Amino acid sequence: MENSKKIDVNNIDQVRNSLNDKSLKVCVVGIGRIGLPTALSFAKAGLQTIGMDINEKLVNSINQGNFPLKDEPGYEDIFNNVIKNGNFSATTNINEAVSKSNLILLSLPTPMNKKNIPDYSALESVCKQLSDILQPNSLIVVESTIEPGFIESTLINILEKTKRLHVGKNFTIGVCPENANPGEIFHDFTNLPRLVGSIDKETTKIIAMIYDFVFSVELIIMPDCKTANAVKLTTNVFRDVNIAFVNELSLMFDKLGIDTLKVLDAAKRKYNFQIHYPGAGVGGPCLPINSYQFLNTATRTDSKLSIIEQSREINEKMPDHVINLTLDCFKKCNKSIKGSNILILGISYKADVKDVQLSPAEIIINKLKDLGASIRIYDPYYKNSEVFGINIESNMNDAITKADASIIITAHKEFQEINPQIFTKMNTPILIDSRGVIDTSSIKNTNLVFRGIGRGI
Ligand SMILES: NC(=O)c1ccc[n+]([C@@H]2O[C@H](COP(=O)([O-])OP(=O)(O)OC[C@H]3O[C@@H](n4cnc5c(N)ncnc54)[C@H](O)[C@@H]3O)[C@@H](O)[C@H]2O)c1
Repeated sequence: MENSKKIDVNNIDQVRNSLNDKSLKVCVVGIGRIGLPTALSFAKAGLQTIGMDINEKLVNSINQGNFPLKDEPGYEDIFNNVIKNGNFSATTNINEAVSKSNLILLSLPTPMNKKNIPDYSALESVCKQLSDILQPNSLIVVESTIEPGFIESTLINILEKTKRLHVGKNFTIGVCPENANPGEIFHDFTNLPRLVGSIDKETTKIIAMIYDFVFSVELIIMPDCKTANAVKLTTNVFRDVNIAFVNELSLMFDKLGIDTLKVLDAAKRKYNFQIHYPGAGVGGPCLPINSYQFLNTATRTDSKLSIIEQSREINEKMPDHVINLTLDCFKKCNKSIKGSNILILGISYKADVKDVQLSPAEIIINKLKDLGASIRIYDPYYKNSEVFGINIESNMNDAITKADASIIITAHKEFQEINPQIFTKMNTPILIDSRGVIDTSSIKNTNLVFRGIGRGI
């Protein structure tokens, strides 16, 4: 990428001109699941974009023309085009990337530590570096998911620490929290409204103008950064809490012989009911962490968010429930789980994506191993690889026939299309469906020992 033209990205007219003549230079720091599609979108819009990441293997592979997100439809062609036309490249050198850019987007990970405390160290460390190297009159947009108030109370202080930069004077900052769904990022980037907030009205207008140019979606203007980040967390935590609600209901419906899926299917016909499904647990890089981010905000502000606390507790107990269902089935078959062969179907935390971050599958596998079971795994997204120290099976039907019991953890499309008859060939044959993919009427006259979460059987 050529060096950046002197553009004052704090001046709306200069930004408009730089979009029109495509001279605005963009750097996306963190080119993972969200950052790479973001960078590709800016490059596709004709803006020279550089992706910066500390993962050298990823950067080299991208620069060699290998698209890493095979489970994100819609981006591979864009990737090939923008690499070919020179609008996109990647680097591990933050100095080089930032010095050539006017607009810096931060798409860095915001995980949590083992004690469930949010970890903002990637954002903090990059902003520390930016305090030394950011070009005057640049614009920083934080896309990572952060707690309300984090920009105002922490990041601006870090950026201003070296006294080179003064917010609102020679640089500006805002947020555009990312809300795309893994596996559907192209659809979401081109359809879902985006939230925009910043330190002042002018910056918000500038960010909205840039995002409108690149994404052409509805932009929801927020009064400040903290409100935008509060919205982002509210939407995800709403889901975590509602999943806990149906998880808890499903445990009771089970005892009543009620199929939770039938309840939900009928309930969703009422105009103000929003459907959420029970399952083996809530994983992934968003929902559990976002709940803990809000709980951290509650601690900081001496507030109480008891419904979120309890929801986390309920959702985190669901893997234990899967274990109990499995033990029940083994008992019913007069067989010991110790020494048995159990097949796990699906390890991704979510259907039809390749991602095992905080997946309940890992917890369930470890618990089954502690009980003395041997574990096999089949997951169409991880064929020919090793995950959780286990080689992934390459053929689902072969793996099923070799097992004593199968546990469906992820509702991948391949499992939704499965003919349940295949499970009758298992040695025992025990089938646990934690995601409601099995049509229970199809197993009625089989020898299967079946349990599902909240299926009333
Ligand atoms: N994945 C999702 O579903 C999703 C959806 C919406 C929002 N988000 C949020 O978006 C943000 C990014 O998430 P993601 O899923 O893309 O994460 P990711 O782990 O896929 O990507 C993050 C990238 O940042 C890089 N990185 C880490 N530290 C760095 C540093 N110091 N300098 C440069 N690069 C560094 C990593 O190597 C990685 O490639 C998070 O805040 C997340 O909560 C994620």
